[in-house]
Amino acid sequence: MKGVILAGGKGTRLLPLTKITNKHLLPIHDRPMIFYPLETLRQSGISEILIVTDGKFIAQFKKILNSSLQKKLKIKVLFAIQKKADGIAGALKLAEKFAAGEKIAVILGDNIFEANFREDAKIFRIGAKVFLKKVPDPERFGVAEIRGSQIVRIQEKPRRAKSDLAVVGLYFFDKRVFDIIRKIQPSKRGELEITAVNNFYLQTKSLNFTKIKGFWKDAGTFASLAEATKFIRENSKK
Ligand code: TTP
Repeated sequence: MKGVILAGGKGTRLLPLTKITNKHLLPIHDRPMIFYPLETLRQSGISEILIVTDGKFIAQFKKILNSSLQKKLKIKVLFAIQKKADGIAGALKLAEKFAAGEKIAVILGDNIFEANFREDAKIFRIGAKVFLKKVPDPERFGVAEIRGSQIVRIQEKPRRAKSDLAVVGLYFFDKRVFDIIRKIQPSKRGELEITAVNNFYLQTKSLNFTKIKGFWKDAGTFASLAEATKFIRENSKK
């Protein structure tokens, strides 16, 4: 399985910091944010990784993820440029050539996981898989409605959530994902939404899910960035 880290976007909730750097280069404890999704993929047994980002800070990404570090971590990192922040599925579209028909694990660059997904990656074959976490504020996320062992619907940032299960920023897709992205329409906010992609898989009965264990945060706001930093600091040896 290959890995894709989506590290583009606007980062408006972290302004003014994101005026002078990319969100995923901001520190979480002692390292830039990008190291955490990278490590999640690596710990899940994935070593070929594409980072999709806007072009502005590419030199900084390349400096911090240089070839000697890649060698040390036994990974290979490539880059693709998302010129316009047209959504998560818009960013993923740029990974088609890299994926080259293989299955992919896609992680949002601001998602910090305690768990790794080695076992899930080993058994994933076809369709799509999403990962769910019980949260107190589901309205901020894609929310999964479950009946029995099936997802019946995913709603993007609903005003009144039907469950407290957020779809977290890690997805497994088979090679069909790129055809599906070509079929979906931009949302009201003008973005190609990953929820539309997941709902497409759902319609063809090929969407599975697992509930995740352990700490999880999307570190895209000042409050969640601070919480992620606190967790990493308290759980690291340094
Ligand atoms: P978001 O946090 O939803 O969006 P954002 O990063 O633009 O931030 P804000 O809402 O504060 O303006 O995106 C989640 C992750 O998805 C983010 O870490 C990077 C990735 N992403 C892209 O790579 N390209 C995109 O066009 C978007 C919208 C997000």
